[in-house]
Amino acid sequence: MPHDVNLIATIAVGFVLASIFGYLADRLRLPALVGYLVAGVFAGPFTPGHIADPAMAGQLAEIGVILLMFGVGLHFSASDLLAVRGIAIAGAVGQILLATLMGMALTHFWGWDFGHGVVFGLCISVASTVVLLKALEERNLVQTTMGRVAVGWLIVEDLAMVLALVLLPAFATALGGHADAAHAAPDQGPVWLVLLLTLAKVAGFVLIAALVGPRVVPGILIRVAKTGSRELFTLSVLALALGIAFGSAAAFGVSFALGAFFAGVIMGESQLSHRAAANSLPLQDAFSVLFFVSIGMLFDPTVIVDKPLEVLAIVFLIVVGKPIAAFLIVLLLRFPVRLGLGVSASLAQIGEFSFILAGLGATYGLMTNEGQSLILAAAILSITVNPLAFMAADAVGKWAGRRFPDWAENFGKTKERALAAELRRIRSETEKREHEQARKITEFVETFPLFKAVNAEDQEELLLLFVPRTASPGERVVRVGEKGDAMYFVVSGTVTVNVNGTGVELKAGSFFGEMSLLTGAPRTADVTAVDYCNFLVLSQRDFRQFTSRHPAVREAVQAMAEERLAMNRAAATVVDHHSDEQLDSGASTADR
Ligand code: CMP
Repeated sequence: MPHDVNLIATIAVGFVLASIFGYLADRLRLPALVGYLVAGVFAGPFTPGHIADPAMAGQLAEIGVILLMFGVGLHFSASDLLAVRGIAIAGAVGQILLATLMGMALTHFWGWDFGHGVVFGLCISVASTVVLLKALEERNLVQTTMGRVAVGWLIVEDLAMVLALVLLPAFATALGGHADAAHAAPDQGPVWLVLLLTLAKVAGFVLIAALVGPRVVPGILIRVAKTGSRELFTLSVLALALGIAFGSAAAFGVSFALGAFFAGVIMGESQLSHRAAANSLPLQDAFSVLFFVSIGMLFDPTVIVDKPLEVLAIVFLIVVGKPIAAFLIVLLLRFPVRLGLGVSASLAQIGEFSFILAGLGATYGLMTNEGQSLILAAAILSITVNPLAFMAADAVGKWAGRRFPDWAENFGKTKERALAAELRRIRSETEKREHEQARKITEFVETFPLFKAVNAEDQEELLLLFVPRTASPGERVVRVGEKGDAMYFVVSGTVTVNVNGTGVELKAGSFFGEMSLLTGAPRTADVTAVDYCNFLVLSQRDFRQFTSRHPAVREAVQAMAEERLAMNRAAATVVDHHSDEQLDSGASTADR
C-alpha cells in the first residue's frame, strides 16, 4: 500500500472494524465500546495483518477527546459545578490522593522507585470522562444527582490531571527522573518559580476564557447563523472548538481537552448552543469511536501472558480499591449510600488521561515501557468490566437496603435532598431559558402566520435577522417619498397608513413597507404610530436572502403588496387625478 494513504487507511480500517465489532459486542449484550477496543487490537501492530498506523490513530483519538470534552462543556454549566463542589472537589482530591498512595504501595512492593511510583499512582487515580459519559448515557443517568456529581467529580479530576501534566516536567528531576532534552528549557529556574508560572498560565487561560469568551463567541455564532448556511455554521462550531483547544494548548500549555472543555462551556452560554451541539454530535460520535480503537491499537496482548499477576493487581486496584476509597469519601462527606455506590462504579476505570500521563512520564524517565503496557492492559480490562461495576453497585445497594434498611434509606438524606433541590433549580432555570427561546418562536409564528410553513431552524434564524424597533404615539415611522430598504412587522400596537387622505389601520400581525422593499421605488404612503408600537424590522438584503430560500414567503408578501396597490388605485380614481398618476408610477415599479 503506498504510504501516503496512511490516514485514509487508518480511518477506514478503524471505522470498518469498529462497526463490525461494535455490532458484535451489542449482540453479545456488551457495551459497544468493548467492541471498539477489540477492533483496535485487531487493527493494531501487535496482531497479525496490521494495517492501521498507531501514531496516526493516536492523533485521531486526540480529536475524539477534544470533541468529547467540547460536548461535555456544551452541556455543562458553571452553576452545575458550583452546586456539586462540596462533594466533587473534596471527593476528587481525596480519591486521587488515596488511589495514588495505593498505586505507590503496589509498585513499592514490586520494587519500583519513588518517582516511578508517583507517576504510576497518578495514572491509575484518574478515571476517563469519555467512558464515564458513555456509561451514564447508556443508563440514562446524566441528568440525575448521581450523574451530575460523577461528572463534576471527573471534571475536578481532569483539572487536577492537567495540573499534574504541566507540573511533571518541573518536578521530573526532583522525582529521580531526567529532564527531557527535547522539551525542557535549559534554565527552568527553581521549582517554585516554575510552579508559580504554571499556575499563572492556567489561571490566565481560565480568566481569558471566562472574560473574553462569552463576549466574542456567541456573537460569532449569531453572525454565522444569519448567513443561513448550515455548513458554514457547523464549520464555525468546529473551528471554534478545535481552534480554542489548539490555541490554548499552544499559548497557555493547558491540555487540548481542557481548552476544548472551556470552548464548550463558553458556547453553551449562547442561545444557539443546542444547534452547535446537534451539529457537532455526529463528528463527536465518530471520533470518540476512533479514540477507543486507538487505545486498542496500542495494546500489546503479550503483557497479559507475561505479567498476568501484575495486570490483575492493577485491575483490582482500579475496580475495587479506587471505588471503595471513593465510596468511603462519599460517606465521610455524609452523602447517601446509593449515591456513593453510583459514583464509585462510575470511577472504576481509567482512560485517556492515564495514557497521556504515562506517555509524559516515559519522556522524563519516570515510566517504563512495561509500566505503560500494564496501564494500557488495565485500562482495557477495567473499561470492559465497567458494566459489571455498575451491576455490583446495584447489587450492593439492594443488599444494604435489606440488611441495614434504616441506614441505607436515611443516611445522608438531608444533604442529598438539598443538593438535588439545588440541581433542580439550576435545571429549571436553564430549561426556562430554552423554553423562552422556543416560546418566542411560537409566539412569533402565531402573530405572523406567514412564516408557519418555514422550518423551525429557519424561523430561529429569522428572529436573528430582525432588528427590534419601537415607536411612540404620533411618530412617523415611514414617510411618503422616502427611499425604503426595510419592511416592518407589527408585533404590538397600531399604526395608520395614510393613503389618499384616508387612514388604514394596521394592527399586530400585519406588516408594512413591503412595497418599496420589493420595487425599490419611494415609499407610497406615510405610516404613523397610533399608540406605543413594537416592530421587527427586516432589511432588504436579509429579506432577499431569506426569501431566496423561501419563495412562498416572498409570494405572500408580493400578493399583499399587489392587493394594497389595487385597493389604493381603486380609491384614487374616485378621489382625484393627481394621486392616480402618482400611484400609477408606483404600480409599474411594484409589478416588476
Ligand atoms: P411602502 O410603499 O414601502 O411604504 C408605505 C407602506 O404603506 C407601503 O409600503 C405598504 O406597506 C403600506 N400600505 C400602502 N397602502 C396600503 C393599504 N391600502 N393598506 C395597508 N397598507 C398599505
